[in-house]
Formats: sequence, structure tokens, C-alpha cells
Amino acid sequence: MEHLYIFDTTLRDGEQVPGCQLNTVEKIQVAKQLEALGVDVIEAGFPVSSPGDFNSVVEISKAVTWPTICALTRAVEKDIDVAVEALKYAKRKRIHTGIGTSPTHIKYKFNSTPEEIIERAVAAVKYAKRFVDDVEFYAEDAGRTDNEYLARVIDAVTKAGATVCNIPDTTGFRIPIEYQEKIKYLYEHVDAFQCGKAILSTHCHNDLGMATANTVAGVLGGARQVEVTINGIGERAGNTSLEEIAMIFKTHPDLGIETNINTTKIYPTSRLVSSLMNMPVQPNKAIVGRNAFAHSSGIHQDGVLKNAATYEIMDPKDVGIDEASIILTARSGRAALKHRLHVNGIEIDGEALDKVYQKFLMLADKKKEITDDDIMMLAGAERSAAHNVKLDYLQVTTGKGLKPVASIGLQIANEHFEAAASGNGPVDAAIKALKTIIKREMTLKEFTIQAISKGSDDLAKVHQSVEFDGHIYYGFSANTDIVTASVEAYIDAINKFK
Ligand code: KIV
Ligand code: ZN
Repeated sequence: MEHLYIFDTTLRDGEQVPGCQLNTVEKIQVAKQLEALGVDVIEAGFPVSSPGDFNSVVEISKAVTWPTICALTRAVEKDIDVAVEALKYAKRKRIHTGIGTSPTHIKYKFNSTPEEIIERAVAAVKYAKRFVDDVEFYAEDAGRTDNEYLARVIDAVTKAGATVCNIPDTTGFRIPIEYQEKIKYLYEHVDAFQCGKAILSTHCHNDLGMATANTVAGVLGGARQVEVTINGIGERAGNTSLEEIAMIFKTHPDLGIETNINTTKIYPTSRLVSSLMNMPVQPNKAIVGRNAFAHSSGIHQDGVLKNAATYEIMDPKDVGIDEASIILTARSGRAALKHRLHVNGIEIDGEALDKVYQKFLMLADKKKEITDDDIMMLAGAERSAAHNVKLDYLQVTTGKGLKPVASIGLQIANEHFEAAASGNGPVDAAIKALKTIIKREMTLKEFTIQAISKGSDDLAKVHQSVEFDGHIYYGFSANTDIVTASVEAYIDAINKFK
């Protein structure tokens, strides 16, 4: 078996998704979970991009022991200096530097020439090598870079000391056979790969839905590191998903590739990332979607009951899904709730657990079945308890032939405020009432309501974006009452105003 290094970029490429930004404490939580999952490298951020990113790389470096901590830079000395400083406490550290190599990037992004790009790439790698041994080079938009030129770039940077060469399909354009040929071409034309001084890495985007297929093709072509994110999150259509790659190589031992991933931690990690980033996982998502192991047709159910192997290629337990105990009801105790939260990657005890349990009982009174999504929402709601503006009460009168009217009570910095307003619907009335208390120039830009599972007693999740002072702020809430969820999401966004 050959080892495949898992490079997780959930906290860098994944975190670039609008509305998914995490604070440092949340990033540490994710990083520690990634460590428990067994990833080899954690890309913790792009330190020069903001003080928040810098700080997160510092704190993750302190908190994590085994995985290598990696920081992204452009091929610019200042970026590398800042990354070196941010990685100060990392036990194992890597600088990931690079530059665009496709004709479009060379011409429009850098107004440069192919030869000058090689010089800049080599200079950046040599500069980074002064501070760390482990330097990874990325050739941005390698997917659309001619193979012969790309091999010259990669040969030059490996001679300058790069030990990992990342070949991103930045725009998600390539099809698997082309990406495999590109990796194979580089493997065969660059000495450093032949003699084991460097390895090739895949980094695939999912714009055409081929990120995972391209990554597998890249590994079959000779890559020995894959860059992936939990739940496949990332800009636009996302990146290759870690869980798919880990399970592909586990279910196909004949491919001769093994990873360090403890697959039973996949589901809790997926839940944790989805909950902290307020990023729902599509129900039919491979491996971690709600329906990934749900058999609904009679023929399939019959087969699975006779022998699971008839329709299942993986045991749900192998990815950390303990099917038997997914459903909680009003009769479940604190211990059952605590266990479900633990399975979902949330560790709480004592008073914090009591508070979530009280909310759980209230919800269980209204809903027959409490799912993992519900309890994550309950725990998430608890995390936002420290907000400045809080909703005390909301009363709405609405219905056919009535003018919707809302009265609202808010607590702002421990003071109580009340207001009432009418609107063209219950949400409009409630938000107008809220705006008579919080008199800011703010505009609701996006507003989505989504049921979590099914049934008229279901929780509704609301995502909103609110524009204030030239910035967009994202708000989120979940409630069985959609008007309350809408107002809470608005308040969540307001609490983020700077
Ligand atoms: O997609 C990409 O090209 C990247 C690089 C910055 C590594 O994320
Ligand atoms: Zn990327």
C-alpha cells in the first residue's frame, strides 16, 4: 500500500465561502477535530490577508500537535515573512507559496511573461526555504496551463527546494482523463518526482461536478497528496470532499492507496463543520448527506433487511453514523442528548447541557422526532446567547383578509424596548417593528427559508444577508416558527455589525 497524504483546506479554501467565516475559537475547534480525524496537513489560513487569519494560524499552531500546519502566501516576500511569523508555534510547519501559470493569469493578472513567472516562482520558493524546510509550491490555474511549460515551472521550483508541488484545477475545468495525463506528464518529466525528492499534489474545484473524479484520476496518475475540504465546501461549487476521497480508497483496496483517516470520525466532523459554518449539507451528498444510507423503496428495504450488502457498499458505522440512535424523542434523557451531541462533534456538560436539554424538551413537545440537525441547531442557538441584541418576545397577527401586525420586545445591552408595526406580510411587519427600535440604514438583501427534514412540525432554517454601512452581514436562525426564525436571523446579522 502507498500512503496518500491528506491536506485539508477547510479552514482556508473552504472558509472563503461568503457567510461561512469562523472566529478563532471555532477554527481551533475544527482544527482539533481534523487532528482527531487523522489529516496529515491542515491549511490554517492566509496570514497576510487579515489580522483575523494571522491570529487563527498562530492559535491553531499552538493548539494542534500532530498535523503539519500550513500557511498560504503569494509569491511575495512580505507574504512569506508574515506566514513565517504566524507559524512560529507550529510543531511541524509548511509554507504554501505560488503564482498563476496559465496564459490568462500571466497576461491579465501579472502583465508578465512566462520566463518572468518562472523567475518569480523560483525566488519565492528560495526565499521560503530560508525559514522552513517544508515548502509547497502551487501553480495557480495549472488546469489551463500547457503541460510542457508547467513541467518547466515545476522542474525549476523543485530544484529551488519545493518538496510538494500542487497542480490546482482552479476553475474546475478539466475532465478526469486530462487531469490524470497532466499529473502523469509532470511525474514523468520532472526528475524530483522520479527520485522521490518531491511529490505531486492534486487541488481540484467542483465547477463541473468533477472534483472528486479528477482527484482520483490525479492519484492514479502519480499524485501522493490530495487537497480536500470537509463536505466539499469551498468557493463557488466547492473543492474535492475529504470524506469521498477517504471512502473511495477504503472501499477500493485494490487501488493500493491508504490514508491515515480514521473514517469513524467522518460524520461527526461533517456535522461540526456544517453547524459552525451554517452551511447545510445537501441531503443526497455522498457519505455524509442525510439520505446517504437511507433506503426508501420497498425493494431496497427488503434487500437490506435480508443482507445489508445487497444495496450497501459501506457500513454506515464505518463513517461514524450510528443509525439505530439517530432519532430522539421527548422521552430521551440528558445522557441520550449528550451522546448525540458527542456523535456530532459537540462536547458539552453541566449547566450548558442543562440549557440545551430544556430547549430540547420544549422542541420535543412540538415535534415528534428530533433529528441530529435539530439538536445541532439547539446547541448552535446556545452558542449565540452572548449576543448584544436579543429577542424577548414576538407576537404577530396575520391571516386572510387581515392586515398583518407585529409587536416585538427586544433586549439591547440589558435594556428592554418594545414596538409595533404593520406590513404586507407577517415577516415584513415584524422586521418593520424591529427597525423602529434599531434605527439603522440596513437592507435585507437575501432571504432563504428551508425546512430541515419533513413534516409541518419541522424546524425552519433561515439564512439572510443584511447590508449595512457598505458591508454585507450574514444572519442565521432555526425555529419551528418561521416568522420568529426570520426575525432571529435578522438579529443575528445585526449582532455582527462592526
Ligand atoms: O484553487 C487554487 O488555485 C488555490 C490555490 C491558491 C492553491 O486555492
Ligand atoms: Zn482552490
